[in-house]
Amino acid sequence: MNYRHSYHAGNHADVFKHAVLLRMSQLMQRKETPYCYLDSHAGTALYDLQGEASGKTGEYLEGIARLWGRKDLPALLQGYVDSVGEQNQDTDLRYYPGSPQLIAAGLREQDRMILSELHPEDAAILREHFIGDPRVAVHQRDGYELAKAFLPVAEKRALWLLDPPFERGDDFDRCLTAMQVAIQRMRQTVIALWYPIKDERLLRDFYRQTAAAGLPKVLRVELTVRPADTSLGLNGSGLILVNPPWPLWEELEEVLPWLASQLAQSGSGAWRLDWLAGGP
Ligand SMILES: C[S@@+](CC[C@H](N)C(=O)[O-])C[C@H]1O[C@@H](n2cnc3c(N)ncnc32)[C@H](O)[C@@H]1O
Repeated sequence: MNYRHSYHAGNHADVFKHAVLLRMSQLMQRKETPYCYLDSHAGTALYDLQGEASGKTGEYLEGIARLWGRKDLPALLQGYVDSVGEQNQDTDLRYYPGSPQLIAAGLREQDRMILSELHPEDAAILREHFIGDPRVAVHQRDGYELAKAFLPVAEKRALWLLDPPFERGDDFDRCLTAMQVAIQRMRQTVIALWYPIKDERLLRDFYRQTAAAGLPKVLRVELTVRPADTSLGLNGSGLILVNPPWPLWEELEEVLPWLASQLAQSGSGAWRLDWLAGGP
């Protein structure tokens, strides 16, 4: 396991993923009934953007830093930037919340979270961070097993962030299998699977297989900051959203053009949103 999220925290992919994820959790909370948030590749709770890892890459400068302090943010993005702001005491941007902290900040008394993180250091930090909060369970185990281990949940409502580092060649296959298991065990599970946009050939197979996987409603949302075939690295990222809560797709159609234009790194950024299976 070489991947450490501290090098990438707050980059364009985190902004996109976290803004969408946060909105999904808010929409899940429109009902008073409890829901369970599962985060299978949790990373850690807070990242220091002035620390060594962030300093080496400076990736957040082309991500969250571009939105920080702006007065013209669309409402969905304002909510996300406000959440990041809660982790920072003054006007400086220093601490960036990982997905567990982003969701924990809005968790209600009746909700609960199940986190898994395989890296021993990050799992220990996560455990320490949430110590004493009975709503949060931290496991140092393989995140792909989460659906088998915990679904169906007693609450009957679950939001699962599936966010592996994609270091292994079989990660797309493992994600697909994990999503199928989740839906077989609890058909109404809401899933957000994040994936990198680097290799278009690999993605074409993945889209085809996802569309044919027997998942109920599958929304594909993507945001690229450079042309998708540039060989510079992470050109953008996507989210496969299974059973997304209404009216998420309508809100995203409004906000993505703005976000793509603000996060673009060369030429213009681009976005797309369409249904791979089912529909609204
Ligand atoms: C992209 S990062 C997670 C970022 C985090 N979800 C966020 O949005 O803030 C992926 C994490 O998965 C962890 N990881 C890698 N393989 C794993 C596995 N099989 N099970 C659980 N965690 C794993 C890595 O250590 C890394 O912290």
